[in-house]
Amino acid sequence: MRIALPDITIQEVAPRDGLQIEQEWVETSDKIRLINSLSAIGFSRIEVSSFVSPTVVPSLRDATEVFAGIARRPGTIYTALIPNRRGAELALTARADELNFVMSASEAHNRANMNMTHARSLASLAEIAKSAHEAGALVNATVATAFGCPFEGGQPLEKVLEIVRRYLNLGADGITLADTTGMANPKQVSQLVSETLKLIPADKLTLHFHNTRGLGLVNAMAAYDVGARRFDAALGGLGGCPFAPGATGNVCTEDFVNLCDEIGLTTGLELQRLIELSRWLPKLVGHEVSGQIAKAGRPLDLHPLPERLQSSA
Ligand code: COA
Ligand code: ZN
Repeated sequence: MRIALPDITIQEVAPRDGLQIEQEWVETSDKIRLINSLSAIGFSRIEVSSFVSPTVVPSLRDATEVFAGIARRPGTIYTALIPNRRGAELALTARADELNFVMSASEAHNRANMNMTHARSLASLAEIAKSAHEAGALVNATVATAFGCPFEGGQPLEKVLEIVRRYLNLGADGITLADTTGMANPKQVSQLVSETLKLIPADKLTLHFHNTRGLGLVNAMAAYDVGARRFDAALGGLGGCPFAPGATGNVCTEDFVNLCDEIGLTTGLELQRLIELSRWLPKLVGHEVSGQIAKAGRPLDLHPLPERLQSSA
């Protein structure tokens, strides 16, 4: 029996992108609880954590314990972000289903974020892909700052496409274009996504938008309109790169699912369950989160009339 795929696949990244920037320590058991709840809601892809320097990103230093503690739902792909060979080794030992290799389009951001040149990052990818494939894992390769860099500004389209080609030649199974600090606009998104879809099919391309300047969902729809079908999003709109000034959250998962529901696109995710889980986040991270639907409720969660009108009815 063939199971119908949803119109849009959302990879949930709150456990990784969402928690990497949090200042307060989130207990390992709470991270595991979050991921298990996301699995129970039915996400087909969850980014669990990062295998990066614990000095650089201390909030995710328990990646190995988190991977060991989660209940794996059959059919869900559990991904780990990695910057280098060491990260790949650790992620494979932790039995990540997919490694998400990251390099920035801009040299400046790659130096700030990864302390590496493009040449050094790319030199590791072929080996990472080989060891991942031998272990039966997939490799996704992300172009961070693909739509603009907070240090260098705009990134030429051809430069980003050349990195995508390099990634594919070096063995990447999938590609993510990431708008690390929310610099993208819908026109630019249409162009870059259209060109990238000439290099890879839609089921291998993920768009990763941040809502830093309020354009996250508009950009996601622009990408959808030209054929993109896979998106990263974070519950509650958590997230942000610790090495990008002014970074803020990802596109909010439940806001995105609400948009899809309203315009008749399937995601396979139940909005009310996402809202309930999202309402736990302020307690988890110790502050309000930016997502809007969890505060406003679903559009048809109607309210009683004011009392004075009820009595005159
Ligand atoms: N996971 C855990 N530890 C790692 C590691 C990894 N992936 N890569 C390197 N290390 C350790 C090394 O073993 C070494 O440890 P030691 O001092 O105990 O010997 C130390 O980190 C320094 O290693 P080095 O290779 O010199 O790394 P670096 O200091 O130049 O940092 C990165 C390079 C890539 C490890 C670091 O910049 C990083 O983790 N960046 C990720 C940033 C991030 O996650 N950003 C947000 C997501 S896009
Ligand atoms: Zn991000």
